[in-house]
Amino acid sequence: MTPGAASRRSEELRRVLQRANRAYYELDAPDISDAEYDRLFRELQAIESEHPELQRPDSPTLRVGGAPAESLRKHHHARPMLSLANAFSAEELQGWEDRNVRLNAEVRGAGYTTELKIDGAAVNLSYRHGLLVIGTTRGNGVVGEDVTANLRTIEDIPLVLAGTGHPALMEVRGEVYLPVANFEVINRERVEAGDPPFANPRNAAAGGLRMLDARLTRARRLRMFAFQVETIEGPSPVTTHHATLDLLERWGFQVEPHHLRHTTLAEVQEAMAGYEELLPTLPFGADGVVVKVNVRKLQEDLGVVGGREPRWAIARKFAPEVAVTRLLEIRVNVGRTGALNPWAVLEPVELGGVTVSSATLHNDGLIAAKDIRIGDWVEVVRAGEVIPQVLGPVTARRDGSERRFVLPDRCPACGEPVDRPEGEVMTYCGNPGCPGRILEGIVHFASRGAMDIRGLGDERIRQLLEAGLVTDVASLYQIKSAQLVQLERFAEQSADQLIQALETSKGRPLSSLVFALGIRHAGKTVATALARRFGTMAALMAAEQETIAAVPGVGPTIATAVTGWSRNPRNQDLVRRLKASGLTMTEPGAITAGGPLTGKSFVLTGTLPSLSREQAGRMIEQAGGRVTGRISKKTDALVAGADGGSKLVRAGELGIEIIDEAELLRRVHQDS
Ligand code: IVH
Repeated sequence: MTPGAASRRSEELRRVLQRANRAYYELDAPDISDAEYDRLFRELQAIESEHPELQRPDSPTLRVGGAPAESLRKHHHARPMLSLANAFSAEELQGWEDRNVRLNAEVRGAGYTTELKIDGAAVNLSYRHGLLVIGTTRGNGVVGEDVTANLRTIEDIPLVLAGTGHPALMEVRGEVYLPVANFEVINRERVEAGDPPFANPRNAAAGGLRMLDARLTRARRLRMFAFQVETIEGPSPVTTHHATLDLLERWGFQVEPHHLRHTTLAEVQEAMAGYEELLPTLPFGADGVVVKVNVRKLQEDLGVVGGREPRWAIARKFAPEVAVTRLLEIRVNVGRTGALNPWAVLEPVELGGVTVSSATLHNDGLIAAKDIRIGDWVEVVRAGEVIPQVLGPVTARRDGSERRFVLPDRCPACGEPVDRPEGEVMTYCGNPGCPGRILEGIVHFASRGAMDIRGLGDERIRQLLEAGLVTDVASLYQIKSAQLVQLERFAEQSADQLIQALETSKGRPLSSLVFALGIRHAGKTVATALARRFGTMAALMAAEQETIAAVPGVGPTIATAVTGWSRNPRNQDLVRRLKASGLTMTEPGAITAGGPLTGKSFVLTGTLPSLSREQAGRMIEQAGGRVTGRISKKTDALVAGADGGSKLVRAGELGIEIIDEAELLRRVHQDS
């Protein structure tokens, strides 16, 4: 490469990688795949090592992550949180040992440990005399964000350490992750709420950690594996990594259960096949194996490369499974929100044990950026358990017959002109009467978690729409059994069953209805929070934007979407018609505004004699109070049961009132 070309290319790579870093670390929404990032990163590393004069101080090769988010308090790590170099083959792993042995011959034969590389978000937990004092994200590796309140909601993080031998001050590092099963549930909810799904469990975990309301973190049910102890004050309690893992377990942490000890690198290499086989079967996401020099003294001697990566550890990554197939056609679906979703019809191909015949293409901007054309041979990957994605075209196999894709300028379902709002990547059909949108809207309304109308699936809804029996969700409740039996495939019994299912659905709580109506950004969690706060549909429809934004877990964006919806006369009419059909529209056990604990903030600690923490929390909220995870000057009372621990001390220090369960019950029932 000529110096001029190298300079141009490195500049371009820096720009792309910086943008990708921001998307990944700060927005939790990656814009390129990990494999692509690794490839570009290595290309930049190669250019910079060949042309050191092109290295810039702000180069992504010198940095660890993104800048910390704006709204959380910053925290300096006592020691930097480093990143890991990758090895993509047995040869690269051998090269890693060879370089280390050249620096320190003792490395050979001193032993290694291996453990899975968890696909989550790195956290740093500071423990003083065994008590968790602060927990942070990695941030840029030097400064992270204080997310202590959120971390306290994670069951794998001990607030007080078990066992003995805790250094006076230490940082325990680990990876917070979202179990695969939770990931699928959360994504289904997001799609149903009109929010983009998370690309992978890692982003869902990272986003969950940085919530401004700890209850939203708790709702994600995150977990953590610990893998590192940095002793800041006092003598280090261990001399090997293997002993560190044992010790972490004794202190009450979870450690990655598949970790192994090896004497030589040959043994490490042998273990890799087993790990690779394990990856797709795990209940958590893992994207490789971390190989570590076992002896701490050797780790320290080996040191760190470029302030970024330690020499004593490396991530052995496995290439994701990729298949090459023909892209036959690009079709466009209209979602419930009107968003036009292009997707690829593929020639069926085997990929990771399943036959893949379609893949998402997200939006037309991405199709153009990857230069994907109809008729192309394309590379398809299945990133973990998620939907297949088209990586890009195999341009060498083009024969000139391929055609570029143009998003239609009219909605494929209703033919109305489509619109791309300023600054958005998606194009929308704005016609509220669009049959495509109506169909998707009714499918959502009837689905489980929403109004749960049994027997009313995709096909049936299509049939009812075509017969002109329904035009929107309210018209569902006008259907008569006599009309149904005239339709094909409707026997008297199935007609009666559907009418009965519709009848049953009228009694669903307000939270289900709010979710079912498909208000933008109102997923199940938000819908539940709103229903519990307002109690009735009428109160929610009348609520001001600020009142809605003040509901924990809601905020201004959602509040704008909700009031936008409730101020629309079409929607007001819809709600009136639903009400007239006899829908309940109330939330049992909703928080009563003006309840006896209105405006009061509580913290719970220890085991209460009769109530579980959940029950006590719900009771406080239903009486209008708030429950937070952490004591501050704003806390009104600490509800303490047996074995209260550090919160009792903290409450004492701040002069916060401490009450027991009996007193809580008395206050909750004060004026009822
Ligand atoms: S050891 C010097 N072990 O991967 C860093 N890291 O790409 C020592 N990670 O920041 C890290 N699983 O957040 C280690 N079993 C594991 C890991 C692991 C996931 C993360 C960690 C680190 C990142 C580096």
